[in-house]
Amino acid sequence: MSGWIDRRRSCFTLVRSGTREESGAVKNSLIRSTGYWVPSNVISNDELVASYNAYAERFNREHGAAIDAGEIAEVPLSSSEFIRNASGIERRHVYEKSGILDIDSMVPRIPPRPIEEISTQAEFAMKSVQIALDKAGYDGSDIDGVIVASSAQQRNFPALACEIQNAIGANGFAFDMTMACAAALYGLHMANGMIKSGQARRVLVCSPEIMTCINVHSRREVHFIFGDASAAMIVEADDGKPGGWDVIGTHAENKWSSALRSDYGFINIAEQSVDPDFAPHLDQDGHRVFKDVVGFAPKVARRMMEDIGLAPEDVRRTWLHQANIRMVDMIAKRILDRDRTEDNAPAILQEYGNTSSSSVVMNFEMHSDDMVAGETGVLCAYGAGYGVGAAAVRKRA
Ligand code: COA
Repeated sequence: MSGWIDRRRSCFTLVRSGTREESGAVKNSLIRSTGYWVPSNVISNDELVASYNAYAERFNREHGAAIDAGEIAEVPLSSSEFIRNASGIERRHVYEKSGILDIDSMVPRIPPRPIEEISTQAEFAMKSVQIALDKAGYDGSDIDGVIVASSAQQRNFPALACEIQNAIGANGFAFDMTMACAAALYGLHMANGMIKSGQARRVLVCSPEIMTCINVHSRREVHFIFGDASAAMIVEADDGKPGGWDVIGTHAENKWSSALRSDYGFINIAEQSVDPDFAPHLDQDGHRVFKDVVGFAPKVARRMMEDIGLAPEDVRRTWLHQANIRMVDMIAKRILDRDRTEDNAPAILQEYGNTSSSSVVMNFEMHSDDMVAGETGVLCAYGAGYGVGAAAVRKRA
């Protein structure tokens, strides 16, 4: 069954730049501004590994007899050296630090809030949303669509986007969508299509990612991967105002895989009513994800580039999702047809880890000021699904 699904490819409609402008019916879209925010709390690899290893040693001590009898497996130790060498990650910024490092909890401590207060994730989103609005010189009433595009939302409904829309005083539609680490570029793809079709004039796409709540810090294979960050983009119709980045192409594409999955969700409580020991799954087959995504992601980006007539040598920079430094190296090389450098494909994961969908927007914002009008870059983000989003942008005068 999975082989059958694996061979299938679903593909959103490609939205090209410049297809109908001549008739005057279509307005091109542009990224007017971006914003990102990271918490000031930092956990180094050494701190994280010390906590994880203390948990593993205690578990192994307490379950020594069962381990010796072969009934359960020993929990293996982690190491900072492995994490740095295998992933490139050196530290991560986190929403709340003490709960993650406490081996009795290993999750952030976040107090529940009364329903009259803004929710934790909406407040987290607002930190980057406000920066993007301020940079653009807009307030909420200038926005006519809000898309929350992230790995997870803290509740099922009302949509987080509705809460953010209300918080900024925006008009029009608001909805949440998920596509894991690729979500922000799926959001950009949708915003671009809506603007070109005349359905929206100015869309806020925001990606608030508190990934340390999703991660399992007691599982060696994944405990080091994620950090927390929030990012936002304002995408609008081109009304001739200077500045920003023309969106000259977007593309989004999927290929089914469950090699990376998080099963936390609304059915868990029903499952636990049948099996109280049931623990939802968060795991990945790291090798498989690495190999599959390094093959798939650049193909999607190159398909988009070919469709809009963009040659690799005409791309000054690619801003890639940050998961693993070797993946960044290989994907950059396949998109650009040249070796990766910090100039042509910057890396930010050493400081932030994998901040899921927010990472590509953060990377773009951190490494775009030096580009000059007329220069072109490609954003590419990939993750569970598998889903890959790509966008080509050109700096405006
Ligand atoms: N500390 C110490 N050793 C570890 C370890 C840890 N935290 N995790 C695994 N190891 C060990 C393994 O047991 C294995 O030992 P062995 O060779 O004796 O069997 C060895 O290190 C290699 O493990 P492996 O899982 O093959 O490591 P890797 O080189 O594939 O790196 C990842 C692991 C997760 C960093 C890497 O696979 C990866 O980044 N994959 C992509 C995942 C990804 O990007 N996900 C998000 C997509 S958006």
